[in-house]
Amino acid sequence: MNLPMYHVLVVDDEPAVARYIAGLLPQSKFKAQVVNSGQECLKKIQSKTPPFDMILMDSEMPGVDGFSTLRRLRRFSADTPVIIMSCFSSPEHTLEAWQGGAQDFLQKPILPSDIARVVEKYCKKPKRAMESEGPQQPHIEDIGEGQFFLATSPEMRAIWRQVNTLSKADVPVLITGESGVGKEVIAQLLHQYSPRASRQLLKVNCAALPQDLLESELFGYEAGAFTGAIKSKPGKFELCDGGTILLDEIGEMSPQLQAKLLHVLQDGTFSRLGARVNTKVNVRVLAATNVDIEQAIAERRFREDLYYRLNAFVIKIPPLRERREEIPYFLNELARRYSVIHGLEPIEFSPELIAAAVLYHWPGNLRELGNFVKRYLVIRDAESALVDLEAKIRPHAAASPALASDEDSMPGAASGLKSVVRSMKDQTESRMILEVLDQSKWNRRIAAERLQISYKALLYKIRMYNLEASA
Ligand SMILES: Nc1ncnc2c1ncn2[C@@H]1O[C@H](COP(=O)(O)OP(=O)(O)OP(=O)(O)O)[C@@H](O)[C@H]1O
Ligand SMILES: [Mg+2]
Repeated sequence: MNLPMYHVLVVDDEPAVARYIAGLLPQSKFKAQVVNSGQECLKKIQSKTPPFDMILMDSEMPGVDGFSTLRRLRRFSADTPVIIMSCFSSPEHTLEAWQGGAQDFLQKPILPSDIARVVEKYCKKPKRAMESEGPQQPHIEDIGEGQFFLATSPEMRAIWRQVNTLSKADVPVLITGESGVGKEVIAQLLHQYSPRASRQLLKVNCAALPQDLLESELFGYEAGAFTGAIKSKPGKFELCDGGTILLDEIGEMSPQLQAKLLHVLQDGTFSRLGARVNTKVNVRVLAATNVDIEQAIAERRFREDLYYRLNAFVIKIPPLRERREEIPYFLNELARRYSVIHGLEPIEFSPELIAAAVLYHWPGNLRELGNFVKRYLVIRDAESALVDLEAKIRPHAAASPALASDEDSMPGAASGLKSVVRSMKDQTESRMILEVLDQSKWNRRIAAERLQISYKALLYKIRMYNLEASA
C-alpha cells in the first residue's frame, strides 16, 4: 500500500538552493515542487487542489519578496503552514514573518535538522487515503554474488532503459562516471541482458598492472616470448571468446596497448606476444573510466582513434549527489541486505539521519554510502552517525556553489567570508590527506583508496597543498 504523501512547495529565487531544500525532504513521504519567484508561488497555490501541506519560502527574492508573497497568499490560503527562510536573523525580521502570518522562521543555511524539525511539527496531520500517491517504486534486481542494482531517479531509469537497448546490440560501450557510481554494476547488467549472458564476463583493471604485464594478461604469449615464458599462455581475450570483457580504468592503458586494442575492436584479431600469426576472437568490449578521456586525448595520453571507436555508445552515470532522491532507498535496501548477510539485527534510519544523508555530497558515491550503512549497522549509534554527517556537510555546504551564490548576494564582508570558508576547507582537507598518507607510509595508492578519491586526484592534491614538503 502506498504511504500518504505530503505536498510541499519550495520557493527560492536561486534554483539550486530551492532544489537543495526540496532534496532535504524524505522522498518516501514528501512530494516537493519548486518555484523561483513570489509570482510563480501565488499562481501555483491558486491552482493546487488539494492544497499544499507546507510552504518553505525564501524571504529575499527580487520582485515580490517572501513577505509580500506571504501577505498576498494569506488572502486565499489561510491555513497552509508557511515557513520563512532567510539569510538574516534579527528580532525585526522574525516579527515581520509572524505578523505576515508565517508559522515558523528558519535561518539559512538550512540544515537537515531544521527541515526535520518543521516537518515533524507541521506535517503530522492524518491524510486521507484518497490523497495518497506513492513515489515511483524503485527498480531493484539481483545481479549475482550478493550484488544488486537499484534505480529510481529519472536519470538512472533512463540509464537502465539504455542498458536494455545496448545489451541487445553487440557494440562496444564506454561507461563513465566518478569512482563508486556503479560502472561495474552497469557493465554486469549489459552482459547479463545480452545474448552473451551464458558466457563469461571478464574484468581487467588496466591500472592495476605494469603495462607489459597487462599486455600478456590481455593477449597471452608464446613460449620464449620473454625470459621466463616457458610455456605459451592464452590471454583474457582468448579466454573469454564468445563473452564480454570489461576493460576497467581504460584511461590508464599505455598508447602502445591502445593500438593493439584498436585492432581487436576493428576486426577481432591480435597476436600473442612473440607469435607470428594472428588470433581471431569474438569478444564484446566494454570499457570504464573515471578520468576525463577528452582531457587525456588533449594531453596525448589517449589515442583519439580508439576513443572514437569506443565513444559511439557512452553511458554516463551521474554522481549520487545528482540523484539524491535515491539515497533513502539505498539506505534501506543496503541496511536490509547487510543485516541479513552479516546476521545483524535490522536497523531503522531516523528522519534526521535520512535528511543528513540526502544532503551530504558523497564524494565516494555508492561505495562510500555502502560503507556508511555497514558502519551504522555495527555501531548502531544514530546520534554519532548524524553528528559525523553534519560535520562533513557543513564545510561543504558553505563552499558549494548553491550557497556561495547566497554569499555573493550579501554585501560587504561576503567575499571575506567565502575565502575564510574556503581556506578552512583546504586546511581540513590537507590535514586529513597528510594524516592518511602518514598512516599508509606514503603509499599513495592505499591512501587514495582510504580517502575514497582517485589516485590521480590524490597526486593532484599532494601537489596543490605541497604535502611532500610537510612530510
Ligand atoms: N545502482 C546501484 N544499485 C546497487 N548497488 C550499486 C549501484 N551502483 C553502485 N552500487 C554498489 O556500489 C559499489 C560501487 O560500485 P562499482 O564498483 O560498480 O563502482 P565503479 O563506478 O566501478 O567504481 P570505481 O570507479 O571506483 O571502480 C558496489 O558495491 C556496487 O554494488
Ligand atoms: Mg569499478
